[in-house]
Amino acid sequence: MAASGAATPAIEAIDLVRTYQTHTGVLRRRPMTVEAVRGISFEVKPGELFGLLGPNGAGKTTTIKMLITLLLPTSGAARVMGFDVVHDTTAVRQRIGYVFGGDRGLYDRVSGIDNLRYFAELYGVEPSEQRRRIAALLELVGLTGRENEKVEGYSRGMRQRLHIARGLLHDPEVIFMDEPSIGLDPVGARELRQTVRSLVDAGKTVLLTTHYMFEADALCDRIAVINAGRIVALGSGADLKDAIAERTIVEIETFGVTDEAVERLRRDDDVSAVNMEERDQSQILLVQSERGAHITQRLLSLLGDTRVGKVVAREPTLEDAYVHLIATTGHDEARAARAASVQ
Ligand SMILES: Nc1ncnc2c1ncn2[C@@H]1O[C@H](COP(=O)(O)OP(=O)(O)O)[C@@H](O)[C@H]1O
Ligand SMILES: [Mg+2]
Repeated sequence: MAASGAATPAIEAIDLVRTYQTHTGVLRRRPMTVEAVRGISFEVKPGELFGLLGPNGAGKTTTIKMLITLLLPTSGAARVMGFDVVHDTTAVRQRIGYVFGGDRGLYDRVSGIDNLRYFAELYGVEPSEQRRRIAALLELVGLTGRENEKVEGYSRGMRQRLHIARGLLHDPEVIFMDEPSIGLDPVGARELRQTVRSLVDAGKTVLLTTHYMFEADALCDRIAVINAGRIVALGSGADLKDAIAERTIVEIETFGVTDEAVERLRRDDDVSAVNMEERDQSQILLVQSERGAHITQRLLSLLGDTRVGKVVAREPTLEDAYVHLIATTGHDEARAARAASVQ
């Protein structure tokens, strides 16, 4: 039964675990257990926009699938609007909508509005309600005026926003979005973020996943960073940034830097993390240190005869915080999982 009272979280995950049974090897196939989600707990308040941020394979989709009753947890529990995702699936499903990235699941040869009419029928929206709700949703996702065009002429961004409208036809209280901006161009992604914001302004609770730090930061009230099946940080963007506020980031432009040279930097006691961004002609090393800008000279000498271009010491950004979290978590788990997986 649902708990009552204003304090009931919209979403609660309590030590959620999910493993997959699969196989390893091509010729000699052996059973293998993948621990996709390894004990995740968090709460999302009603009306909150909550982000699950993590690299590919972190366990984001697996977590969402458990919350929307598409996948049974191996252990642990979760509730949506107070209803248990395993025992009260019908009640959960009535209250949620979900939108997955990508552009399948729409009828290309008919108009946007006909897609929505069709799905409204399918979801059992009262005929008297349909016209009003579809009009409101078109407005919400910014497709008013384009609704009579065939979907095949829509941009990916428009399709994704039509997907959102579709996911909202039954007026759910909680909306789950798995990498909603994947594959969108920057303009489409920005419009999508506006749509997501307007959902929250309209009183919905939204949980979304993304692997873009800046997107999580631009959109979300709170962010859970997930890596290798665990939450490694949880808080507002500002909270996450505070964790590394003391650091300095030294950006070093290099040309043809070797793995050995990067490894020398990583092994230095005063270096907390090294990340590399490939550019057309060069590689930018992003070195995090608690030592301040005066470590720069030593970093350059550690690079040996590597050709170096521009060098800049600056304050850390949220992106740096994320890079650091991902770089410093998950390795032990991943190694342990590989060791345990071959039975
Ligand atoms: N159906 C499946 N069978 C076996 N392994 C899976 C399956 N789905 C996901 N995985 C594995 O579980 C881990 C987490 O995957 P996923 O939840 O899709 O992560 P994310 O959405 O963060 O990219 C990955 O290692 C992935 O390879
Ligand atoms: Mg995923």
